[in-house]
Amino acid sequence: MPILTPNIRFSNSLTTKHDTAILLVNGVLSEISKAKDKENGGILTHQITSHPDFKGECGQTLVITLPPKAEYIRILLLGVAKPKKMKAGQFETAGGNLCVALSSVSAKKAAILNGNEVDSETLSALLLGIRLGSYSFDVYKTKNASKQKRLESLTLISPTPKKLEKETEKGELLADSIAFTRDLVNTPPNKLYPKSFADLIKESLAPLGVKIHIFDDKALTKMGMGCLMSVGQASEHLPRLVVMQWNGAGMPVKSKNQKPIGFVGKGITFDSGGLNVKSYEGMMSMKMDMAGAAAVVGLMRLLAKRKCKASVVAAVALAENSISDEAMRPSDIITSYSGKTVEVLNTDAEGRLILCDAISYIQEKYDPELLIDIATLTGAVINALGTSYAGLFTNSDDLGDQLENAGRVTGEKVWRLPVDDDFRKEMNSDFADIKNISANKGSGGSCSAAAFLEDFIDEGRAWAHLDIAGVAMTKSTSTCPVAFASGFGVKRLNKFVEDNPG
Ligand code: BES
Ligand code: MN
Ligand code: ZN
Repeated sequence: MPILTPNIRFSNSLTTKHDTAILLVNGVLSEISKAKDKENGGILTHQITSHPDFKGECGQTLVITLPPKAEYIRILLLGVAKPKKMKAGQFETAGGNLCVALSSVSAKKAAILNGNEVDSETLSALLLGIRLGSYSFDVYKTKNASKQKRLESLTLISPTPKKLEKETEKGELLADSIAFTRDLVNTPPNKLYPKSFADLIKESLAPLGVKIHIFDDKALTKMGMGCLMSVGQASEHLPRLVVMQWNGAGMPVKSKNQKPIGFVGKGITFDSGGLNVKSYEGMMSMKMDMAGAAAVVGLMRLLAKRKCKASVVAAVALAENSISDEAMRPSDIITSYSGKTVEVLNTDAEGRLILCDAISYIQEKYDPELLIDIATLTGAVINALGTSYAGLFTNSDDLGDQLENAGRVTGEKVWRLPVDDDFRKEMNSDFADIKNISANKGSGGSCSAAAFLEDFIDEGRAWAHLDIAGVAMTKSTSTCPVAFASGFGVKRLNKFVEDNPG
C-alpha cells in the first residue's frame, strides 16, 4: 500500500544532474558550503547576510536561486543547529520543513551534499521527517494533482554511504509503517470495512512472517463474542476479529517461559452511533474510528520488518456501527465473550463493547505478560486533554511510567488519567453485570470508559489503555502533509516493544 516518495539513495558522488543541492547549516558554513559559495561567486554568504531571519536554527530553510549556467537550479539551506532545549521530534520536523521548501519550488531531483556533518542519529531523524513529510494519499484522485509537485528522488552524499544507509534503515521502516497506518485510516469506509480490512491485514502481514488468524461472523457467533457481534449486526459488513502473532523472528524459545506482550486495537470502520445516531458534525470524521486497530497493524508490520526479537500477540476487533432494523437497541442486554452480561444504554458507546471481547480472548488464549489497548474511545478525552495528548489509563504504575517515557523520546505525547473503583461503580447496571455508559452523565467519560475495560482485565494482569480520540487526526503539518490520519501510536508502541525485549 503506502507509496512513500521520494526514493532516498545513498551515494559517495553525484553521477546525474540534480536540480536542487541541499546544504545543512550548523552555525558556521561547512567546508562544502564554503566551496559552493566560492563556486557561485559568494551568493551564499550574500543571501545569508541579506536574510537576517535565517540563522541556521533547526528546521529553518532558505532557498537560493542560482544564475542560469550554474551546476544546480537552486541551493536550499537547511538549518540543523541543535537548539539549547531540544524537544522530541524537532529534527523530524526539520526534515518535514525541507519537504515543504522543496515542494514550494517544485524540486524534482535533490541531493543533500553534506550528510556526514551531523551525527547519524540526527540524520536518521531528518530522513524520517523527510519520509513522513512526503506522505501523500492520492489513490482516489483520478488526476493525481500532487504528483506533479512531488520530489522524485533524494540523494544523500557521504563518503560512507553504505554505513549511513544501514544506520538510517530503522527510520525507513518506521516511516513505512506509519504511512501504512495513515493509509488505513484515510481509506474511506465503503472501501475499508471489516472483511476488506481483515483481508488486507492478511495480505500485507502474512508474507512478512506474521501469523494471521481471521475469525468471521460465523466463527465469532459460535465462539460467543456477543458484544462484538451486537455492535456490528446492523451492517451488511459483518464483524471480524483478526489475531496477529509475531514470535520473535523465529528465535529459540527462551528458557524461562516467555509470555508475549499483548496489544488490542479498536477497529470501528465507521461509527454512525447506531440507533443513538450521531449528529452531522459528530459523524463527519468517523471513518477514523479504526485508528487504534490501524496503529496495532502498523506496529505488527514494523516489528516483522525489523525482525524484532520480542514475542507479541495482537488482536483487532473490526465492526461497523450501523443502523438497520437489526441494530442493537439502547436497553438490549448482551453477553460478552467473558460471560459477563452488558446492558447497552447508548449504542454510540460501542468501542468498549468490541474491545472487551478482544481483550478477554487474548487473555484467555495467550496469557500475555501485559496488555495494552489503543482506541479512539471517547470524545471526552478531547475535552480533557485536547488534540496533542493521548489519555493513558493503567492499573500498573510501572507500565504507566514506561509508556510515558516512550512518549518523551518519540514525541507522541500521553498524559495519565485516573481509573479506579469510583469510576467502575458508575457503570453498575440495574439489570445486568455492567452497563456501557456512566451514571455520572457528562462527567469523566474517558475514565468510566476505561473502568469498563478494566472490568474485563484478569486479576493481577498489567494493563494500559490509550485513548487516542484526540490525536488520531491532525491538521496538515510538515511531517503529515495530508490533513487527517496522523499515524499516532506506531512509534510509541514500537519504542515500548524495543524497551521490553522479553
Ligand atoms: N468513536 C467515538 C469517540 C470519538 C469521538 C472519537 C470523537 C473521536 C472523536 C465513540 O465511539 C463514541 O461515540 N463515544 C461516545 C461515548 C458516549 C456515548 C458515552 C462519546 O464520546 O460521545
Ligand atoms: Mn461511538
Ligand atoms: Zn466509536
